[in-house]
Amino acid sequence: MKKIAVFASGSGSNAENIARYFANSDKIKLVLVLSNNVSAGVHERMRRLGIPSLTFSREAFRDGEPVLAKLKEYGVDLIVLAGYMNKITEPLLRAYPGRIINIHPALLPKFGGKGMYGMHVHEAVVAAGEKESGITIHYVNENYDEGATIFQATCPVLPEDTPEEVAAKVHALEYEHFPRVIAEIF
Ligand code: GAR
Repeated sequence: MKKIAVFASGSGSNAENIARYFANSDKIKLVLVLSNNVSAGVHERMRRLGIPSLTFSREAFRDGEPVLAKLKEYGVDLIVLAGYMNKITEPLLRAYPGRIINIHPALLPKFGGKGMYGMHVHEAVVAAGEKESGITIHYVNENYDEGATIFQATCPVLPEDTPEEVAAKVHALEYEHFPRVIAEIF
């Protein structure tokens, strides 16, 4: 059994989708959710699913040791960032080489980097008059949104689309593809 930890800072709809997708799998299981935000919606979602979700301070994530101890305790093989709004630091990258992946709600390298997260991304896509957007699933390195791409999928952006409408299309792509891609990279 391969064990996944999801890192999430917000609502956690991707974390929930991943948990449900693998709920009956005998190969992959979501065993732990870690957050840097004690009031993130992801905690309530995991409480309902019976999956432990814990909060660590920004300092604990940066230092790595307390987080790594918890990942080890749960036997985590792969770290999945799903709406995690914090940088991954050296200790975690060293402990999980090629075993940390992220989903970004746009077609990287466009609309990535610092400050480009959540609705900010979709607002920027609409403001730029883009004809399409989508998702990028990629390996994580020490820079925001710069690791090697694993998978991309696109959706059309219509001239009349609001950022909220683009967000809904991108979320649909995330729910469709993210768990499947996780299963494939093991
Ligand atoms: C997702 O759309 C994810 O791609 C994005 O945050 C959202 C989290 O939604 N991630 C980033 O912007 C990372 N830069 P969720 O909490 O409902 O899964």
